[in-house]
Amino acid sequence: MRGDFHLTLRAAAIFMKNLKWWQKTAVYQIYPKSFMDTTGSGTGDIVGITQKLDYLQKLGIGAIWLTPIYPSPQVDNGYDIADYTAIDPAYGTMADFENLISEADKRGIKIVMDLVYNHSSEKNSWFIESKSSRTNPKADWYIWRDAKADGSAPTNWRGIFGGSAWNWCEERQQYYLHTFAVQQPDLNWENPEVRQALYDAANFWLDKGVGGFRIDAITYIKKPAEFVDGEPDNKDGTVAIHKMTANTPGILYFLHEFKKKVFDGHDIFTVGEANGVAAEELNQWVGDDGVFDMLFEFSHLTLAFTDGEIWCYPRKWKLTEFKKALSDSQIATKENGWCPIFFENHDQPRCMNHFMPEGADSIKAVKAFARILMTLRGTPFIFQGQELGFTNVAWDSIEQYNDISSRGQYELSLKEGFTSKEAMDFVHFFSRDSARTPMQWTSGENAGFTSGKSWLPIHDDYKTCNAEVEDKDADSVLNFYRKFNAFRKDSEVLMHGDYEELLQDDENIFAFVRSLGNKKIYTLVNFTPDKVSFDAGFLNKAKKIFGNYSTTEKGILQSTEAVVYEEEF
Ligand code: GLC
Repeated sequence: MRGDFHLTLRAAAIFMKNLKWWQKTAVYQIYPKSFMDTTGSGTGDIVGITQKLDYLQKLGIGAIWLTPIYPSPQVDNGYDIADYTAIDPAYGTMADFENLISEADKRGIKIVMDLVYNHSSEKNSWFIESKSSRTNPKADWYIWRDAKADGSAPTNWRGIFGGSAWNWCEERQQYYLHTFAVQQPDLNWENPEVRQALYDAANFWLDKGVGGFRIDAITYIKKPAEFVDGEPDNKDGTVAIHKMTANTPGILYFLHEFKKKVFDGHDIFTVGEANGVAAEELNQWVGDDGVFDMLFEFSHLTLAFTDGEIWCYPRKWKLTEFKKALSDSQIATKENGWCPIFFENHDQPRCMNHFMPEGADSIKAVKAFARILMTLRGTPFIFQGQELGFTNVAWDSIEQYNDISSRGQYELSLKEGFTSKEAMDFVHFFSRDSARTPMQWTSGENAGFTSGKSWLPIHDDYKTCNAEVEDKDADSVLNFYRKFNAFRKDSEVLMHGDYEELLQDDENIFAFVRSLGNKKIYTLVNFTPDKVSFDAGFLNKAKKIFGNYSTTEKGILQSTEAVVYEEEF
């Protein structure tokens, strides 16, 4: 029997060597506008990122995903791109970017770019040309349709940021489609010239030495052959565009071509943002037969929201739903593919507010999430500020919010008859600005983020929640992330062990075990503010290795307690 264990371990060790660099490391997501400002402009810049590379190296990450830094009117904070192969002067120059790549490289860190290829900005020269007439060389680069006989939009589809997904263009006397904001026209992927232009842009960044791509909103690129009205899901007769265009058959043809012309043959990773791909379809998207290395799949994050025009309205969710969503993707990628593990990004509330009960101790709660993040199978993605324990902001008036979707959802909530207090409560819960407040580096002025006026207010907890203070506190969230990240990297069990969910029907506790050879690592997290008990028989001889309480009793979990046990047999 022991011999078997040794064999399994040896096989695992060989496999470990075969893991790719991006499977072994954690990835850190930077929202450049809010990371570090070195010019006093009030918005972050590339030089600021370079300055903080030592901080990131100490955190132990191996790649940085930058949200878009291309020239952009910033209607959607850079997700509206005006030029795919340049740097927005607000962030610096191409030389700054090249310097970032080389400085990061010296520290073993790769730079990953965000490709926003479903749509461009309306200010992109491609769109300016396309809208100028029905006969120009780029006339077919976007999705143009005639009005219905009564002059109304071609279909009843509703854009993701609210309102019709069509906008009228005087010059062409036609409508164009925009899945997101009016200023973000959808590109026409059916046109091979458009696809080639997008592949060329991605190859331009590969030539600069980037380590991978995060591919935005990718499930929307293929539109149905026929554009027809959908069954309305809203009083105004509209239907969410997501239901009509997401993951349309034929999309994989485009993606395989994309892979062949751009990704193949490079030592990079790709992660697609793929709302609408179910766990059972994952194997067509990732792994040996798929197109990407990983997919951001959102079923564990969307549970807290309703599905409708006002999607920000909080929904009561059950812990068993959350656990199932995570377990499903763990199981789906077990044989084939790899998971990006994430609970926060620039579009999500902070995990403490998103998932933890009101009144929970926020430090304990964020550490509990860090444990889940680092012990599931996959590559952990840490969103800036998460490693410091950032929580949501709750500003008084909608005027203080910058996020285009917060403003849209607020207006819709009022139209629906909610009071302004209720509408603000929704905004406080979901606003993307909570993820976008500036990094808190010090307890000094503007949290050390800028010497000017910050583009978005700084969270008022910055005096205690910041990198400088947490660096010195051995028990801080930051030091916990550093420690646990290092632990994960060295743990064969966490890198490659099997995943099994435990206490599956329990509505209070998320418990799972990772096993490899003669070792097991258990993670247990209490998602309630109360003390809860469970049958701890399975913990047998396991020893606690990490916890967010100094003492732990097997079979009992205190309020938001999280414990990691290890067992060797
Ligand atoms: C993605 C981005 C989001 C952006 C949207 C439109 O979902 O993450 O920030 O608003 O695409 O590009």
